Parts: sequence; structure tokens; C-alpha cells
Amino acid sequence: MFPEHRPRRLRTTPALRRLVSETTLRPRQLILPLFVAEGASQPRPIASMPGVVQHTRDTLRKAAAEAVEAGVGGLMLFGVPETRDAVGSAATDPDGILNVALRDLRADLGDSTVLMADTCLDEFTDHGHCGVLDASGAVDNDATLERYADMALAQAEAGAHLLGPSGMMDGQVGVIRRALDDAGYTDTGILAYSAKYASAFYGPFREAVDSQLSGDRNTYQQDPGNAREALREIELDVAEGADAVMVKPALAYLDVVRAAAEASPVPVAAYNISGEYSMVEGAAAHGWVERERTILEVLTSIRRAGADMILTYWAAEAAAWLD
Ligand code: PBG
Repeated sequence: MFPEHRPRRLRTTPALRRLVSETTLRPRQLILPLFVAEGASQPRPIASMPGVVQHTRDTLRKAAAEAVEAGVGGLMLFGVPETRDAVGSAATDPDGILNVALRDLRADLGDSTVLMADTCLDEFTDHGHCGVLDASGAVDNDATLERYADMALAQAEAGAHLLGPSGMMDGQVGVIRRALDDAGYTDTGILAYSAKYASAFYGPFREAVDSQLSGDRNTYQQDPGNAREALREIELDVAEGADAVMVKPALAYLDVVRAAAEASPVPVAAYNISGEYSMVEGAAAHGWVERERTILEVLTSIRRAGADMILTYWAAEAAAWLD
């Protein structure tokens, strides 16, 4: 008899395929990133991210409640301030948009979801870098750490459960952990953007937060060709007190997600970022790919690579499909 081996046998019926399916994709594994703009009276569409908006405070509350209702595992908040300066003052101002919005959502949702915030200055600086600059215009690592510590305290005070330091400064997790502990926020956790690459796929995010950046982030984010370095960053962040680590972007870095999943003693997140979203939405809008199938395949692939959780702009919609 030939063929002797017939792997197709287990693909014969939907029930067989379901029985042997290796990878689970559940709503609780999806985290929805949300943008909130100071002073907005209407949600503002983000042209390069069809379906995603800069929320007003009110529409943010509604979108957050709907996502939680759909079963997502958490929310990651980004603020878009009206005014920016060299040190990103609005990031540490208790009345700054991100902190105000965190307070809104914590009041509405309590502990029914996991509330996270981007702990980074780029949305708040007039030069668009993730840190403060020295006299020569270079990003000053250690001066930035002081700003991150203050920003972390403002976000913890506003009610975030998990902080997401995403600026790739050396020592950022340690300095935030110490600041939180010293102020008594011992239960506020850190989801560290540990292995974050200098990626062209962030393109649409620049529009999403009205970024002022000119130039690039190559002196702090990782070279796309480097994998070993990602494991070192993860090791350092875990040693400094990270409760969970992240690889970002996701799709072009699934090997790094796999390596992180194998090496990390803490949960691993992957961020399915703006450009990955826009590519699929753009192709689907042309009818070049089937939208829902493609989205579910993308998310399943990131889970298959080993991510415990996925930050994705499709979180609420996909959660509803999966329910
Ligand atoms: C930094 C930050 C960025 C993203 C999340 N946090 C931008 C960057 O590092 O340049 C990108 C998210 C996305 O592209 O979807 N605050």
C-alpha cells in the first residue's frame, strides 16, 4: 500500500481538525491598544489605520467598556497631548491626558480588566524622541530614567495595573520598579517592552499619536538583524523586575518571539503593531486577502510562535469572533 503515511487523515472533518488543533486563540490573550486625544470633541480617524481613531475622553470610555465586554484580556493606553515640550511635561502632569484617561477607565472598570499604559515620552516631547536630549541633541539615557520614574508614579497613582516602559533606555525597568516600590506601589506591575526593534512598521503609529519625530530611533531601539541581543535585553529586564516581557513588532520577529518564549521565566507578550495592522487592512480593502481569515491567521501565528498575549488593534473585534 502506498502512501503508507496519510497525515491528511486527521484533516478529514472539522471535528477531527478541531480535536488535533495545537494552538489556542482566546479573547483573554488579546490586549487592545487605545489612543486618547486631549481636547478632542469628536473621535479623529487615523487615515493610515482604517477603523482606529484618536478617542475623546468619552468615546474612550465607551470603547474600553465594549472591549472588556467582548472579553479582551486588557487595554493599553496611549495619550495624544495638545501641547508638547522638550521634557514631555504632560506625561508626568496628573492632569495630562494619559493620566486623566487612566483615572476615567479605572473608575469605570475597576479591576474587571487589566489597565496598562505606555510609559514613554515620545508622545509628549516636541522633538518626538522617547527620552530627553542632551546639549548635543543625543538622547540622554540617565536623565530620561528620572523622567520615566516620575511618569511611572503618575500612572500608578492614576490607576494603571501594568506599566509598559517602551523607550528602550538602559535601566528603565529597574528605575521604575524602585520608584514604584519606594512610593508603596508594590502591586503595580511592569510589562517591559524588552526586545523592541527600530522598525519601519511603526509608520502609521506616528500619525496615530501626531508624532513630531524627525530622524530615527536607531541609538536606542534594536537593529532588526539582531536576535541574540533580544535575549540579553529580556534577561536584564527580568533581573530588574519585569513581571512580563514583550517582543515588538511581532510578524517580522516571530523567531524572536519563539526564542523569548523558550528563555523567559515570565509571560511573553508580542505587539502586532500599527504597520502590520495597516498592511492587512490595506490589502483587505482591495479585496486582495480575506480580512477575517487573514487576521485570525496572523494572531494564531503569533500565538504559535509562543506569545502568551498579543497586543493588537483587532483585539475587540477578534474577541467577538472567537467568543
Ligand atoms: C513608543 C511606542 C511606539 C509604539 C508603541 N509604543 C512607537 C515607537 O517606538 O516608535 C508603536 C506601536 C505601533 O506601531 O502600533 N511610545
